[in-house]
Amino acid sequence: MKYIDSLSGVELKGKRVFLRTSLNLPLLDDGSVGDLFRLKRGIPTIRFLVERGARVIIAGYLGRSGDSMRPVAEELIKALPEIPVRFFGTDMTHVPREVAALRDGECLVLENMRRCEGEEKKDETFSTFLASLADVYVSDAFAEAHRDYASNVGIASRLPSYAGLLMRDEIEHLNVARMPHAPSFAILGGAKFETKAPLVAKLLASYDHLFIAGALANDVFRAQGYSAGVSLVSKKIPGNDVLTHPHFISPLDATVETHAGHVCVKKPENVVIDDRIVDTGPYSIAHIAPYIADAQYILWNGPTGIYERGYTTYTKHIAYMIAQRVSEGAQCVIGGGDTIAAIDASGVDASTLGFLSTGGGAMLEYLLKGTLPAIEALK
Ligand code: 3PG
Repeated sequence: MKYIDSLSGVELKGKRVFLRTSLNLPLLDDGSVGDLFRLKRGIPTIRFLVERGARVIIAGYLGRSGDSMRPVAEELIKALPEIPVRFFGTDMTHVPREVAALRDGECLVLENMRRCEGEEKKDETFSTFLASLADVYVSDAFAEAHRDYASNVGIASRLPSYAGLLMRDEIEHLNVARMPHAPSFAILGGAKFETKAPLVAKLLASYDHLFIAGALANDVFRAQGYSAGVSLVSKKIPGNDVLTHPHFISPLDATVETHAGHVCVKKPENVVIDDRIVDTGPYSIAHIAPYIADAQYILWNGPTGIYERGYTTYTKHIAYMIAQRVSEGAQCVIGGGDTIAAIDASGVDASTLGFLSTGGGAMLEYLLKGTLPAIEALK
């Protein structure tokens, strides 16, 4: 796989570059953009190309229901005041004309790629059309690299293709996370145990300890014979291969909302059928504290609680402990938009906690497989 910094300025000057970057940002109810983390992480590659005189076509997708890219493009324009960036919010038919009008060092942001018929199907004709727009392809959208689409996979075999600076950063950090140095500690939260079971097995094998949190902890309680009340649960529960694994650290308690609306901490045996588990609890945190204090390598994906409703207390405890370890020289990788949003909501500066991956599903799949469709396409 080749990276863009193997290209000289001369090779890029005047070249049309199709840059696939992650523009999949959260939108608020009023249609504005909620968080710019991914967009900001993609900027070094845009600057790299523009500073070398490339004509940059920027493509990405947004959401799942075909929202317009306009608010995201406007944020990109604001973030790059010194660079001529324009948004072309129409269908693909007129894009070749707009691309032909691009001058050296200018950028054109395309409309949501998911609006294009051939994108998700990785249609051959559409992939060929995308390739015809450019001389070089640059892949930097790590957060979407697990999707096998025209603009991140189909196009790559049709043009000289390179990985961008963010893609490299992600791959390098996550390769270390796949083979962490000891002592290592992983925290996995989120939901849907059935989709995470292979990763749980992989983390149990490669990490010294794995703590399960978030809605996955509810599945652990059920597997241990307790009730999870009316909490979010998965279709599948962990088996004995997980529960009795020497590297598995079980949650010991939970913060629950009772039917009467009280919030309290309970041991799993005391959770009743109308309780709702909303976060982990202090015994669990006290239990994992020595492991974090000892760890040289920490991986964290998935918030511990329902942070959207303000349950960030234990996410905050964990974030403080990790920040302390990172300041003492430990390495940490954190990923999943929700995890970073939960840390931010807890009031801790996530940027003090090591490497923040832009990937959610992509990060989990990379940890499991060590590659993704959009990465394979560059090889
Ligand atoms: C994400 O937000 O995890 C990625 O951008 C992928 O989004 P998708 O699941 O809508 O493809």
